[in-house]
Amino acid sequence: MSNHYNSTIHQPDYLNGEESVERRIDDLLTRLTPKEKIGQMTQLNVDMVNINPKSNYAYLDPNRARDVIRNYHIGSFLNGFAITAEEWHEFMEQLQRINLEESRLEIPLIYGIDHIHGASYLKGATIFPHAMNLSNTFDENFARQSGCITSTEAAALGHHWNFAPVLDIGRDPRWPRFYETFGEDPLVASRMGVAYVQGLQKQQTGPYRMAATAKHFIGYSTPLSGRDRSPVHIPMQFLHEFHRPSFQAAIDAGIKSVMVNSGELNGEAVHASYDLLTHLLRHQMGFQGVVVTDWADIIKLTAIDVLGYQQQHYHHVAKDEKEATLMAINAGIDIAMTPMSVDFAIYAHELVEEGLISEKRIDESVRRILRLKFDLGLFEHPLPSLTYVHTIGSIKHRQEALQAARESIVLLENKHDVLPLPQKTGKILLVGSIANSRMALNGGWTMEWQGGNESQYPESMPTLLEAMQTSFPNSEITHLEKTGSRGSKTNKEFRRVAAEADFIFAVVGEMPYCEFVGDINDLTLDVDQIATINAVQATKRPNGIILIEGRPRVVPPNLWDAADAVLFAGLPGFEGGTALAEIISGKVNPSARLGFSYPEHASHFTTYDHKATEKSTSKWAFGHGLSYTTWEYADLKLSKNTLNRVEELTATVTVSNTGKREGRHAVLWFITDEVGRITRPVKKLAHFEKITIPAGASRKITFTIHPSKHLSYPDASGATILETGRFILHCSNLSASFDLVE
Ligand code: BGC
Repeated sequence: MSNHYNSTIHQPDYLNGEESVERRIDDLLTRLTPKEKIGQMTQLNVDMVNINPKSNYAYLDPNRARDVIRNYHIGSFLNGFAITAEEWHEFMEQLQRINLEESRLEIPLIYGIDHIHGASYLKGATIFPHAMNLSNTFDENFARQSGCITSTEAAALGHHWNFAPVLDIGRDPRWPRFYETFGEDPLVASRMGVAYVQGLQKQQTGPYRMAATAKHFIGYSTPLSGRDRSPVHIPMQFLHEFHRPSFQAAIDAGIKSVMVNSGELNGEAVHASYDLLTHLLRHQMGFQGVVVTDWADIIKLTAIDVLGYQQQHYHHVAKDEKEATLMAINAGIDIAMTPMSVDFAIYAHELVEEGLISEKRIDESVRRILRLKFDLGLFEHPLPSLTYVHTIGSIKHRQEALQAARESIVLLENKHDVLPLPQKTGKILLVGSIANSRMALNGGWTMEWQGGNESQYPESMPTLLEAMQTSFPNSEITHLEKTGSRGSKTNKEFRRVAAEADFIFAVVGEMPYCEFVGDINDLTLDVDQIATINAVQATKRPNGIILIEGRPRVVPPNLWDAADAVLFAGLPGFEGGTALAEIISGKVNPSARLGFSYPEHASHFTTYDHKATEKSTSKWAFGHGLSYTTWEYADLKLSKNTLNRVEELTATVTVSNTGKREGRHAVLWFITDEVGRITRPVKKLAHFEKITIPAGASRKITFTIHPSKHLSYPDASGATILETGRFILHCSNLSASFDLVE
């Protein structure tokens, strides 16, 4: 594509690609009016410029687009519909062209979207498992692929800015956004997050690229009530030790933006918190990129329900939107996702005129926003392109998503090795409507916000039922939606089919939901799902439970006990049905291990890294996951038994595949700090590595311990504590102790 600025004769510095980015920004800042600067800080929902806002279809209204860009100098839009690449291209090109015509200084628009697990607002795209599933793989290469493929498929279409990854950690299974997290462990979330950011932000499609967003900063994921956007209380020490690392790692890896937590943390609305958004995020953590608010979150600092949210999620800390605007800008936000009005731009300008916000403060934000636009190459290549459409949903991409799904499904239980089912299995019965649903395998953020529109899913995406038919070509696969109530026609039919079945799966879990819409009152699986499991088990036929769900739902213990096999499929995405069927048939040897603790009870749950005074009541522990082969660990050796703070220690262990088939296996290393001034978790994951070992073979695995990295922890101010004393290294059933000395 040609550079649309090339024809300019006396080119100002900011349009000169030969100049440094900082020089170009300096130049542009001298030319922009305060109103234009504030426009750069304003992000509108695409509905504001769509002809039919509720149509779930992009059809630009040029007049409305011209109006908001001409009069309010809007610098950014967001949101998606499940439309084709061609439709996106046309829409984005039209919008950007209008912007370039209306924007006095031709500053390109930046477009934000929630492509959460693959380009999920793009028809035909490759859809990956959700982050919760990726944590079960213990292989960050899948997170890298998820990011990389998302930007390959969508960056050139004008999707410049992706609102992913979620770096909140999943430590409360009730929270409806649990599946968006990389599980409960800070190290797993950090490594997965970094890999995703590297994959997504890598420039791989000519001049088109995408920025990633670390969200939702910070302390969003463990609300006391379990409900989305409800109060969270986290002691600062705990925040630094458990919630900060994933964000810190992404910042250190060069993530370009951060989105703010909509909720309150320790009594403070995060959008109004200078301490969190400036002191912690910028001064302590060193973030230099763009901070964007979450949806309408400046308005939600008030008590005024302009959005019609039945007063939910309002913080009541500002008397009106103007005061809220002042608070949020002073706290440190750069872009307001307003998103349904231009009031932010009006109030921010008034505040500057009145001297309540300095132009210097506005310049700081605009500098960061312009830097993002320059870094993405938008000034040189503002218009989208169809050059990369052939990659959308390509076989190569789908293979990556399939492999991710295969390695993300956890075999939790397999009594007497009932799985894999032999090909000669005559009749297999699947019970539960989820078994024939596409959307259930995908959850929220798929094709639309809630992910709950089955008609939007491509027919080429197999459901579990369809995938089972492919994997067991010689078996009779029957599907029944329900078991029916006793005595009913449905129940009679169920019993008839069940009596003849060689194996029955109760396919249970959750239908799609997203954010607060997925709030629950009870972590226990819904009654009708439990009734399905009960009815299946009452047949006394060999049976298993397949869990397709966005968070670990609890069932009464006797039901786990009566199941011959249990598979946690989570939300494995478009290829998930195939991956599940391949595991059931044995084509694939399962290798996933839980990236979170599966609770046994609905009212008591702990993470694996709980304190010594807490009782762990997990049904399946973090790291639990079975395979069709067997693993043995031996010869755990340390290079020395004492080390000082600047030395390192090397541990080795031999892992053997003692079964009959090749397998992938994640080796997890944990460290216990025996005595700490601040109470220590019983153990913490210090390192992990996933390897492939053929049947009968062994591998020697090495882990090098660096005291400052693996033996330290933060205090309440975030400063590092590194105490001498005894540590215990655990690898599977083996352990060895060593001392850190002066
Ligand atoms: C969510 C964010 C999302 C934003 C834009 C909000 O409701 O909390 O995660 O990026 O909407 O769609």
